[in-house]
Amino acid sequence: MIKLKNDRFLKTIWGQPVDVTPIWIMRQAGRYLPEYRLVRQRAGDFMKLCKTPELACEVTLQPIHRFSLDAGIVFSDILTIPDAMGLGLHFIEGQGPRFEKKLRSVHDIKALGVPDPETHLGYVLETIRLVQHELDGKVPLIGFCGSPWTLATYMVEGQANKTFPMIQSMLREEPAALHVLLNLLAVAVQAHLNAQIKAGVQAVMLFDTWGGLLGDTHYRDFSLHYIQQVIAGLWRTYDEQRIPVLLFTKNGGQWLEWIAETGCDVIGVDWHVHLGDARKRVNKIALQGNMDPAILSQSPEHIQQAVQRILEEYGTGSGHVFNLGHGITPDVQPEQVAILVDAVHTLSRPYHQKGE
Ligand code: CP3
Repeated sequence: MIKLKNDRFLKTIWGQPVDVTPIWIMRQAGRYLPEYRLVRQRAGDFMKLCKTPELACEVTLQPIHRFSLDAGIVFSDILTIPDAMGLGLHFIEGQGPRFEKKLRSVHDIKALGVPDPETHLGYVLETIRLVQHELDGKVPLIGFCGSPWTLATYMVEGQANKTFPMIQSMLREEPAALHVLLNLLAVAVQAHLNAQIKAGVQAVMLFDTWGGLLGDTHYRDFSLHYIQQVIAGLWRTYDEQRIPVLLFTKNGGQWLEWIAETGCDVIGVDWHVHLGDARKRVNKIALQGNMDPAILSQSPEHIQQAVQRILEEYGTGSGHVFNLGHGITPDVQPEQVAILVDAVHTLSRPYHQKGE
């Protein structure tokens, strides 16, 4: 068991008193950091960076060395699972991910296998072991995966896409085939998250970036159902530590009550949600978020005002992990992140004075 020097992140999740509100930032290791761009250049391409544990470890640690963040997240990508399933992933500069093979029929889907995490995704596990060795308990480390639905959107479209025409038509015309794929992905995601827990992460997060694309009923049947299946099979205690599950659904604010029933311990929310309202709706489950990432490109005063407003919306006591409502954008200056982290730690102190 790793003895943590800073355990605010875990404490707030379990509703225990904290001195100040903990913060980490989605995509905290990324292109806004000059030191990341250097290592990325050294690696040659993005997937090479993910697949070289020494380099992935180095970039995981970069934001933790630079800022007083309260958690780290392993450097990898949600699309490593489809890559390990044989779809052949590469990233095109300025255009995002591309798969060599696309899934277009039941036949394509039935030909897929579930990757074995140790064999096909061993580089992620090795990165985790290296990072934990280097971190030596400084802060907890978060492992992650995409939700089955979000992974399926990329696998069926073959690339990032704003309207998702292919998966929308598969959903209408071949729902049974889509369910076969989602089942397979649920098994793969669960196995990969459990392997990450075994390799040493202290929390796991599911990114359902595209769940909010769906209508109410479809969201429940094609996204939430499989998330629930994944969470039900996760190791919730490992090495004598409780392992929290964080679930982020972009544009999922209308479904917080359903999301709370999946068995997750933290609900990640975007900036469309009022944190105080969300707190009342999910009662006792911790929340993560939810500053609009665009504010981080503004003046120090605007950043501080936004932090103050979000802290006030949540109110006193533990149960809130500060974060953005989506990933940090490449145009942000590192100085702006330092201002954010400092503002959260300084301005949140009065909200934790009564040992809450
Ligand atoms: O948060 C972290 O610091 C850990 C690393 C991490 C990355 N991707 C690294 C990355 C995490 C947690 C992800 C998750 C991820 N990847 C999601 C879910 C979260 C979200 O943002 O909605 C999604 C949908 C992906 C898929 C993906 N990866 C896309 C669509 C892109 C291209 C768009 C873009 O931002 O460039 C990526 C590339 C990617 N993943 C980058 C990073 C740092 C940038 C690529 C580069 O360095 O060239």
